[in-house]
Amino acid sequence: MDKIASVVGHPFQVFVRSTSTNNNNNDNENNNENFVDIPPPMEGWTIPQVIQYSIQLLQEYDISEPEASVQQLLVHALALDWHTGVRQLSQWTQEQVVLTPSQDGHFRELLSRRLHHEPIQYLLGQWDFLDYIVKIRPPLLCPRPETEELVMKVVLEDDVVRTGSWYSNNLDEINNNMNNNRVCSDLRILDVGCGTGVIGIALADQLSRRHFARLSASSSSPSSSSSTTTTTTTTNTVSTRTRVVVEAIDVDPIAIEVSRENANRLLTDKQHDESIRYNASLVSAQDFVPNEKFHIVVSNPPYIPRGEVLEPQVCLWESERALFAGEDGLDVIKIILERLPDWCHPNATCWMEVDPSHPPLIQKELLRQNNDVDNNNNNNKHRRVRFVESYQDMFGKDRFVKLLVNHEPTT
Ligand SMILES: C[S@@+](CC[C@H](N)C(=O)[O-])C[C@H]1O[C@@H](n2cnc3c(N)ncnc32)[C@H](O)[C@@H]1O
Repeated sequence: MDKIASVVGHPFQVFVRSTSTNNNNNDNENNNENFVDIPPPMEGWTIPQVIQYSIQLLQEYDISEPEASVQQLLVHALALDWHTGVRQLSQWTQEQVVLTPSQDGHFRELLSRRLHHEPIQYLLGQWDFLDYIVKIRPPLLCPRPETEELVMKVVLEDDVVRTGSWYSNNLDEINNNMNNNRVCSDLRILDVGCGTGVIGIALADQLSRRHFARLSASSSSPSSSSSTTTTTTTTNTVSTRTRVVVEAIDVDPIAIEVSRENANRLLTDKQHDESIRYNASLVSAQDFVPNEKFHIVVSNPPYIPRGEVLEPQVCLWESERALFAGEDGLDVIKIILERLPDWCHPNATCWMEVDPSHPPLIQKELLRQNNDVDNNNNNNKHRRVRFVESYQDMFGKDRFVKLLVNHEPTT
């Protein structure tokens, strides 16, 4: 019988950081240390035995998603395919598939890190976001499914995108440039707090794929035969080019590095043919002054109120400034609300992922902000941010807000 090879011949211990949720990444002084026994090498075990044992171990130490964790770590250690690896594992029910010594060592190292509550995304170095496999490094926020929903809301429901208003505002410029097929109209998007870059990258790719209805011009002409008259409709697609320009900002240098890497990898062709431009800058929302204004602002800012209890794999590993934003979680959101009128074109939209307690607080904050505009600046009535709507996420929580910036009625 084939055997799972051994690299360590006896049980050893790993230090497990405290699972207290004091939101402090440096919690050693709490003296709350645990030690976890890691079993000896799983020599001679079948894959189902390895899986079953490892799941039990993770469960014993209260690690979240034990089954998925073990499967994904094994896929990684065995260098199986990202998409089909878990299925492949499940097919090895009877055969005695054997880990090489290096696979065994690699798997048990990953398992012991998981026992420290290290997020599976950091252990694998990548994760799925919509159709994209994005690279991830600590301490960046691991992209969440709610943020996928935010992106798809913008793609499918954003008014600027749906009505093509960004485009029609530029019609003169477009007509001038139409003949020489130059890029003639940029759809400009700002991603505030880009982290791994998932929001801006996915939006750039999705929106540059779309056929904007505005790019088609229809004309109808009557045509008659001896007995009937029919109407022929011809659709002339205007051969004009659109470029999606994403500016991504963050205060974390690792975010800038990783989001650039992800954009370069995932958007290579489109950056090359100039249908997308992606730029990431190390600057805070409060200090950011763009060269040109935006049509859409999107953000998943830090929004967790201080003191909220989080799972160990979140509060021990992901950076505090990606998670928390003051007493009520509104610190960065308030900065964004204040900066929006300066950042945006007329009738721009802003979408944010927020804490479920935030929508009414944001409405209140905007009322205050708009009163200030009325009191101080009568000539500038359009410099307002209006609350449009909040939306629930897949778990039924009020998670997203949509705002309208610098509203100017169309004539
Ligand atoms: C919740 S994470 C979101 C990351 C990524 N957009 C996502 O959805 O996965 C928030 C990000 O905002 C950044 N951030 C925090 N304060 C900021 C500020 N004042 N200005 C710009 N970015 C900020 C953090 O570094 C972090 O990367």
